[in-house]
Amino acid sequence: MSIQPNTSLADLAAEAKDQLRHFYKKEATLVAAAPGRVNLIGEHIDYCDGFVLPFAIERHILIAAAPNGTNEARIRTTSDEVEAVIPLNHEQLPIAPKWSHYVRGVLEGFRTRNIWPLPGFDALIVSSVPTGGGLSSSAALELAVATLCEGLADNYLPTKEKALLAQKAEHDFAGVPCGIMDQFASAFGKKDHLVLIDCQSAEPELIPFNDPKLTILIANTMVSHDLTDGAYAARRKDTGDGLAHIKKSSWRDATAADVEAAKDKMGDRVYRRSRHVVGEIARTVQAAEALKNDDFASLAPLMAASHVSLRDDFEVSCEELDLLVEIADGIGPAGGVLGSRMTGGGFGGSTVTLCRTDNAVDIAATLEDSYRAKTQITPQIFASRPAQGAHLL
Ligand code: GLA
Repeated sequence: MSIQPNTSLADLAAEAKDQLRHFYKKEATLVAAAPGRVNLIGEHIDYCDGFVLPFAIERHILIAAAPNGTNEARIRTTSDEVEAVIPLNHEQLPIAPKWSHYVRGVLEGFRTRNIWPLPGFDALIVSSVPTGGGLSSSAALELAVATLCEGLADNYLPTKEKALLAQKAEHDFAGVPCGIMDQFASAFGKKDHLVLIDCQSAEPELIPFNDPKLTILIANTMVSHDLTDGAYAARRKDTGDGLAHIKKSSWRDATAADVEAAKDKMGDRVYRRSRHVVGEIARTVQAAEALKNDDFASLAPLMAASHVSLRDDFEVSCEELDLLVEIADGIGPAGGVLGSRMTGGGFGGSTVTLCRTDNAVDIAATLEDSYRAKTQITPQIFASRPAQGAHLL
């Protein structure tokens, strides 16, 4: 089957509750869910005051929990044998296992807001967000934990504050200096809506996306390179250096002419990074306008230009991503493809392809067959409509 089905929230919840019963002999009193995200366009510009256009996907991290009457959290996931036992009466630190860094970072956010100590609890984490697929499984985990903590404390944060708390957990506990896109998409996602985020004001705007004739396919290359290896931080630094050469306080005030004028001072690498930033901000504004007007034909060239810029100027793509995009472009509008590009941080992960629903099954089959023929790797392909953001079930 080329298009893998998405597990429903109800089925994921049943699994998490079963596992909680199995490991902790308890019935769940709280179940929190948070989605991963896919980004249609606006890549590597959330930390440059740009616009980004992601949506929350029908793939989730879900936590079933019950109070345990202690001052500890005991947490397991179905993907790791190791249990994390986390004291809830003092400062949190990024201690092993690694997945628990995200949990501890979020707990620390509640502690520093004086929503503390939280009552002790036992919890089971299940996930349908592919890990390392560039679909923000880490943001989904952060938002699921934050939503669970809100329920445990019966204290609900404004959505923006919750998303920023999660972003800080990623910075301080996972060591990735990410922008706000992933956490905002997972927090603000709404069924049948894209989340256009103005990363300068940190304000999201929901754009309806509910035409059943359109499908978004997500194709996971199944290769991934860890973002904590410094490549992400290096890109972020390059864009900071570029902006310093332009002598403006925000990329939002910078033009392509500014970048050209500073080319010689910047040096080739920073110049290309800078060219990506101004180009991608402009493309994202145009894409959002096109989507608001149901002008889908305008998207293909914008998505194509975004991919080329990420590949050649920003250098965050890889052979496998390029191959999937090339296959989709080869199918083209005649075969129902309306645009395709890499999505997320890059260095592996997934592509996003906007296509006609009537052709989606055939497109997925071609992506799978052609990709496997060249790489001997079977990609993971699924479709997703925009889903609701983090919530308690
Ligand atoms: C990762 C980061 C985001 C964003 C993307 C690239 O997903 O977490 O903040 O920068 O890369 O667009």
